[in-house]
Amino acid sequence: MKRKVLKLFYAASFTMLAVILVSCNSGNTTKKGSKLLAYDAQIDTIIAQMTLEEKIAMLHGKHMFTSAGIERFGIADMVYADGPFGIREEMEPHSWRSLQLATDSATFFPTGSALAATWSEEMAYKYGTGMAREARLRGKDMILGPAINIQRIPTGGRTYEYLSEDPFLSARLSVGYTKGVQDNGVAVCLKHYALNNQENNRGRVNVLVSPRTMREIYLPPFQAAVEEADAYGVMAAYNKVNGYWCSENDMLQNKILRDEWGFAGMIISDWGGVHSTVAAALNGLDVEMPGQRYFGQALIDSVNSGAVPVSVIDAKVRNILRVRLAIEPVPANEANKIMTAQPEQAQIAYEVASKSIVLLKNDEAVLPIDLNKNKNIVIIGDNAIRTMALGGVGAGVKALYEITPLEGLKNRIGNKANIEFIEGYVKPKFVWGQFKSPYTDPDPELLAAAVDAAKKADLVIFMAGNNREVETEGSDRFSIELPYGQDSLIAAIAAVNPNIATVVVAGAPVDLRVVNSNSKALVYAWFNGTEGGNALADILLGNISPSGKLPYTLPIKLEDSPAYAMGNYPQTDSPISEDIFVALVDEHKAESLKEDKSNKDIAIYSEEMLVGYRWFDTKGEAVMYPFGHGLSYTQFDYKNLKTNKQTYKENESIKVSVDVSNTGSHNADEVIQLYVRRINAKVEWPLKELKAFERVSINAGETKTVELNFDVKNLRYWDEESYDWLLENGEIELMVGSSSSNILLTQKVNI
Ligand code: BGC
Repeated sequence: MKRKVLKLFYAASFTMLAVILVSCNSGNTTKKGSKLLAYDAQIDTIIAQMTLEEKIAMLHGKHMFTSAGIERFGIADMVYADGPFGIREEMEPHSWRSLQLATDSATFFPTGSALAATWSEEMAYKYGTGMAREARLRGKDMILGPAINIQRIPTGGRTYEYLSEDPFLSARLSVGYTKGVQDNGVAVCLKHYALNNQENNRGRVNVLVSPRTMREIYLPPFQAAVEEADAYGVMAAYNKVNGYWCSENDMLQNKILRDEWGFAGMIISDWGGVHSTVAAALNGLDVEMPGQRYFGQALIDSVNSGAVPVSVIDAKVRNILRVRLAIEPVPANEANKIMTAQPEQAQIAYEVASKSIVLLKNDEAVLPIDLNKNKNIVIIGDNAIRTMALGGVGAGVKALYEITPLEGLKNRIGNKANIEFIEGYVKPKFVWGQFKSPYTDPDPELLAAAVDAAKKADLVIFMAGNNREVETEGSDRFSIELPYGQDSLIAAIAAVNPNIATVVVAGAPVDLRVVNSNSKALVYAWFNGTEGGNALADILLGNISPSGKLPYTLPIKLEDSPAYAMGNYPQTDSPISEDIFVALVDEHKAESLKEDKSNKDIAIYSEEMLVGYRWFDTKGEAVMYPFGHGLSYTQFDYKNLKTNKQTYKENESIKVSVDVSNTGSHNADEVIQLYVRRINAKVEWPLKELKAFERVSINAGETKTVELNFDVKNLRYWDEESYDWLLENGEIELMVGSSSSNILLTQKVNI
């Protein structure tokens, strides 16, 4: 890719400044057919009767998770809930302390990367349905999710919450999730808009990104959820983009989100993410959460002084009321009457988990576990008994229950084999504000006990991975090494018993070099929710054939990944991140969060579009396991790639069909993937890009014709000169396969 990036940043910032000067608030010029527009006449009548104070009371937090309605008109408060992977427990109105209710235990859904590993919009829809049902039981109007930022760095603290490194996969799942939630009477809040791709320094960092990269890599999940699923809410991220805080970013909020995409709903700040009154008010933010430092009295004063026109305030009230009128409030006396977690949701959580687990390798067909041959099984590793619903900083779920891997295996194996559990390594206790590196040597006593037990076993299941304290909001990992000396531990175990199946429990990529070479089978099992342990046991025992596919690349080592290889991340060597969130819970620390002008506040995205597999493919760099990879217990044969035409026009769809046969002996799902490569293109492109995928269930011996369709307009690029989407005509190659690196059939067509 050309290194014209910096020039572009300055050009972009200059253009933005110019644009701001000519138009202060281009607010509500919604072009598209949002359902929210149906209420505007009614809303005008309400607004005409409101006082300025009543209007401003709606534009900031009332409690930690509510903003005010208008009592005089019987308009209920807006009630928010974290999101994104379960309805967060009830907290005191003005603190983060739990209310300790008896009815607010919720279903813990598999976290974002697990959902993404299903490669299924249908699963995302069900997931959204389940989230909405539980939100309604708790009286919530808006779920603070889905979390859909692109996984730019493998170390990102919230990688487990986010979906994928690929914008198309993220977009499809965002659409499914959003429709599932909103079809069931609750609003989504897409977060964090936009380019919140790192946790370190998230409250100060200024992301410098070229317009094309922003449009093609980072914005598509938001755009799709707004344009295709009519998302009602968006959360402005903590960081800056090209010089402007997201919560006062005219380009992101007014120009792109509202004017271009037709967003008609409400934009709320991330918690504590507002930095000004006038700039935030003029540049698109509707609600400051959770306090009223900028959008309380200061906003009233700004209106009275003429700095903020009343029409801008009215537009914000309108945005909120559209959502408020579209979402039927749950009467306070009906909320929290029965337990939040309900069996139908546990079933959804199970289904997602069972389709998300990825079989990375399976030498000597060690999986599924043959219980006739393996009578003595030892399960080694703290993650066998560790729950993942809570931990670290940020939103978690007070889960009604969570089946751990050990419980799942015991549930499913019963008395068909002897199961012994050995800790191997342990997770030290987490203490707020005290940083302790998890990258330690193994504990010698625990290691010796593990080696002893492994010697006597027929099969070792090594439960590796991270936990919710290692992967956490507010800070990125500074290594992708497995914590607590797991590499040395598995090497010692393998020396006495090579029959090892390793299960990695993690939301984000880890360095697999040591475990991969010491394990016959390797499985990625995610932070997989309430039913995670049962789903894992069903996969390991072959009750279900694995069908999850990696939503991101597993690099060989951290330094290979694009932002690291380009020297764009980390911006500082310090392993400790001073997080903006700290200011919300610890006033004394707030002082340290003032803007710092040093280089560590700048994140340069000069790898441009080469994020994830786009980088590794284009550079011809080896990876540990590629994007889209995932094995099965059966084999699939791909044949007969056909297209409906040979030459396509811009307004047409490319229809591809492939015959996929299950030639093995297990019924199974497969995810068929279609990538596009441009031949002799003049515009610069990554080597190939995902454009369609389809999950299908195929019984043993059966063949299915699978259709993979996409619109030609999805091949356009963002042209920075004409500031528009353009199509480049020419020849392209359609590449169909079972992962980004296992392409099985190709065909060239013309555009
Ligand atoms: C997080 C958001 C979350 C909010 C409320 C913030 O720190 O970034 O994702 O929704 O807190 O809990």
